[in-house]
Amino acid sequence: KHNRKPFVGGNFKMNGSRAMLKEIIDRLNTLELKNHVEVVISPPTLYIDQAHKSVREGISIAAQNAFNCTKGAYTGEISPEQLKDVGVDWVILGHSERREIFKEADDFVASKVAHALKCDLKVIACIGEKLEEREANKTEEVVIRQLQAIAKNIDDEKKWEIVVIAYEPVWAIGTGKVATPEQAQEVHVIIRKWLAENVSEKVAQETRIIYGGSVNDANSPELAKQLDIDGFLVGGASLTEKFIKIIECFI
Ligand code: G3P
Repeated sequence: KHNRKPFVGGNFKMNGSRAMLKEIIDRLNTLELKNHVEVVISPPTLYIDQAHKSVREGISIAAQNAFNCTKGAYTGEISPEQLKDVGVDWVILGHSERREIFKEADDFVASKVAHALKCDLKVIACIGEKLEEREANKTEEVVIRQLQAIAKNIDDEKKWEIVVIAYEPVWAIGTGKVATPEQAQEVHVIIRKWLAENVSEKVAQETRIIYGGSVNDANSPELAKQLDIDGFLVGGASLTEKFIKIIECFI
């Protein structure tokens, strides 16, 4: 494997409470990370401050969303500047739940990525095809369309250093139907090849491409062995003690 630092994110989505977050973080804080793996947790916005104050060094916080403007009359939104202000390092953008339920289109996602990067907020950019797209052999087309929208908004190549791409096939999210290691690896190679041909060889080699969709402690070891799988974005299992086992695949 290349010397990309493994990355494991926990996307808590709209789950948890103060008490539950404390339990999760107490458990995570027992881990000896030894700089082997980057661990990022993404609690609901309300709990970001609690998380930020209680995680040990080496664990960072991601917001689950951010808007594409600095400030103003945008009821319910939060800006990258505000996230930076409270010490948040990362943001998840373009998650399929945002794309589907909240109708976030490729261009909107791309403009949010651009604004976050301008603020030096690191971005976990999510892309992935739906079941009917995979069945119609459109996986590559969809994933590249989503990636291209994001990439065309990143004009400074250096900004790629603070981007992680999460490949999350929609049919695998929350379904218990994980992609096989081969299926995931195949798409990761497509993404990396596209980066090599359309951004640069350096960006292709250095950008972490992580997999998300029904990752658990049983399927993570095999997925983690794949050459182009640099980590995971974990949903459901990140709320449980399984998250520790998943992280340990990289320690
Ligand atoms: O962002 C992570 C996610 O969408 C995967 O969720 O519950 O299938 O691990 P889950």
